[in-house]
Amino acid sequence: MIRIGQTAATIDTPVEHLMACHRRIEDRLATLERAADHLRGDKPAALEAIRKSILFLDSSGVLHTSDEEESLFPRLRPHLTPEELHYLDGLEEQHRAAESVFTELKAVAEELAAAADHSISLESRYRELTARLSALYRPHIQSEDEILTRLALRTLTNAQINAIAQEMKDRREERKHPPALAAMRAGSIDADHASANHDEEAAF
Ligand SMILES: [Fe+2]
Ligand SMILES: [Fe+2]
Repeated sequence: MIRIGQTAATIDTPVEHLMACHRRIEDRLATLERAADHLRGDKPAALEAIRKSILFLDSSGVLHTSDEEESLFPRLRPHLTPEELHYLDGLEEQHRAAESVFTELKAVAEELAAAADHSISLESRYRELTARLSALYRPHIQSEDEILTRLALRTLTNAQINAIAQEMKDRREERKHPPALAAMRAGSIDADHASANHDEEAAF
């Protein structure tokens, strides 16, 4: 079994970097699940942990999916068997399914933050959605660690690896300077709406 991503990896080794990101996603999934147990006893800390985990998945998690779908998968496809192509299609479907649950989870997290009193029904909805997200994401990640890595290592040339690394860097650079920030600098948008909070570390 190939298990990479457990040590530090930079974007210059993009496949390893993607697999390292899996560990960070797993950490946030675990935090989201644990936070449910603190909603009643320490709601502010629970909400903060949820907020930071959601922020990570909404920023680094989204970039990760783009890295796979826009930079990695298209370079693998020409070299894959029909079965392997079917496997990549399945990964993309799993991304859409996880995104759908994540959207629901974000809405429930907002409801939790806005609720004055503890709500058992809201907490159970939160638990259900975090469980569904983990049930989708954890096997997806495990499969990518093993199968996607193997396909990438078998297929990619050094030039393609370098091209993927460059695209990943460009994607992150673009995110640091989104169009809204440029508009804010020009004075047309309020700074609070333009700047993203990249505080992504979970509290527990
Ligand atoms: Fe993926
Ligand atoms: Fe992935």
